[in-house]
Amino acid sequence: MSSSPLKNRVKSKIRVGILGCGAIGSRIAKSIKAQCDDRALLTALFDINPAKSENLQKHLSPKNVVKKSYAELLGSCDLVVEAVNAPDTRQLVRQALLAKKDVLVMSVGKFIEGGSIFELAQKQGVRVLIPSGAIAGVDALKAVSQQRIDRITLTTRKPIYGFADNAFVQQKRINLSQITRETVLFEGNVREAVKCFPQNINVAATIALASHSKDKLRIRIATSPEFKVNSHEIEVSGEFGRLVTRTENVVCPDNPKTSLLAVLSAVRALKEYFQGVKIGT
Ligand SMILES: NC(=O)c1ccc[n+]([C@@H]2O[C@H](COP(=O)([O-])OP(=O)(O)OC[C@H]3O[C@@H](n4cnc5c(N)ncnc54)[C@H](O)[C@@H]3O)[C@@H](O)[C@H]2O)c1
Repeated sequence: MSSSPLKNRVKSKIRVGILGCGAIGSRIAKSIKAQCDDRALLTALFDINPAKSENLQKHLSPKNVVKKSYAELLGSCDLVVEAVNAPDTRQLVRQALLAKKDVLVMSVGKFIEGGSIFELAQKQGVRVLIPSGAIAGVDALKAVSQQRIDRITLTTRKPIYGFADNAFVQQKRINLSQITRETVLFEGNVREAVKCFPQNINVAATIALASHSKDKLRIRIATSPEFKVNSHEIEVSGEFGRLVTRTENVVCPDNPKTSLLAVLSAVRALKEYFQGVKIGT
């Protein structure tokens, strides 16, 4: 029988802890406060940089929810919203699951080999929520994964400034300022993509998990001075036929590597979680 916090809290509010108070964690926290006040209560904020959590708290009520440690956060919430940019994200999520907390995962790229996390969640009777992110068609990908998939490609196009401090681009000595037209920065498989572009390509991991076909997934990442939005184009062919989706996403004002749709999808996933309903993905 599941002991998911959701089941235990049908009448009272669900206590939410935000792990990582950067661009995404802050936007999610403010949206929960503004839009889900009847179902959820922000009870804990933790960031390895205390100035980030202190600053976020100024925009929220109740006050005094900043925690001094992750352990303290885990002791004060039912659901953890993971929005960190950390080398040990997998370990942090594991810790939450071991503490029997449901977890909404934003850093999906860290979980492409993630069988063990999902198995642990099942064993603990808790849930891992993965929002659809900045792409369309995750519901269809999940459906078609029940049959043979022959080929999946993701083409991501982002403005040049979205790659400004990318280590792969620097290593390859790609001079971004000299790019004048559409230029492919990377072509390869999903494992290499999330390793080389950890901040830009979580959607590739979401596609890999939803389709159960990571070995058939090819990723292409391109930039151009003409690109003003983050776009993601997915093409899938298989036994079901052919599927093409494309999103053209406004860049998140607080972080140019992130699409606003990624935050909107997380907030929607949380609303459905709080209400105990789920439509699509
Ligand atoms: N799923 C998606 O569609 C999607 C889209 C965009 C970004 N993301 C991912 O979401 C995560 C957050 O993105 P962001 O734009 O908010 O990044 P950000 O850099 O703005 O914020 C990350 C925060 O995490 C904090 N942090 C780092 N290590 C920590 C630790 N060990 N404990 C607590 N806090 C820690 C940092 O201090 C920072 O404030 C990233 O991993 C990013 O790749 C996912």
